[in-house]
Amino acid sequence: MTLIPLVGKQTESVRLATARGNLWEGAVRSSKTVCSILRWLQFVRTGPAGPLMMIGKTERTLKRNIIDPITAMVGKQRCRYRAGVGEVELFGRTIYLAGANDERAAEKLKGLTLAGAYCDEVTTYPQSVFAMLLTRLSVEGAAWFGTASIP
Ligand SMILES: Nc1ncnc2c1ncn2[C@@H]1O[C@H](COP(=O)(O)OP(=O)(O)OP(=O)(O)O)[C@@H](O)[C@H]1O
Ligand SMILES: [Mg+2]
Repeated sequence: MTLIPLVGKQTESVRLATARGNLWEGAVRSSKTVCSILRWLQFVRTGPAGPLMMIGKTERTLKRNIIDPITAMVGKQRCRYRAGVGEVELFGRTIYLAGANDERAAEKLKGLTLAGAYCDEVTTYPQSVFAMLLTRLSVEGAAWFGTASIP
């Protein structure tokens, strides 16, 4: 994938995403996913050590919407999807994957201590799963990054 340099609010959105929670919401096709992924890649490389998680509506949509584009951006050497175990290895870090609407999503989150999370289309999750996620982000400097489409 050839990344076109970001412009205007796209650049700003990546630069300003330094909070504990960072949500990209806006017009359809306005590069929410691309900008949030760029910030996530930065966080994975330079953020605090500790377990990371990526969540989608289902693991399948997460793979299609986020992991495939990341692989296209950084190459298969740096992003290895392990379907069988529900993990992806990104820049040498193991990231757990979960579908918020899959059975046992809460089970996967329970007991984790997370340093960071990426949330694809966060408004599609059951409230309980998102609430649980927030309680798991307990490493110092932990943060989450996500996109939302609000109709
Ligand atoms: N900087 C960029 N370089 C190359 N392609 C880009 C760039 N920004 C966006 N695109 C492409 O434009 C399309 C829309 O971008 P993206 O999916 O990030 O937007 P979105 O706001 O998440 O859209 P949606 O509302 O559908 O979720 C995608 O096909 C994406 O690959
Ligand atoms: Mg999107």
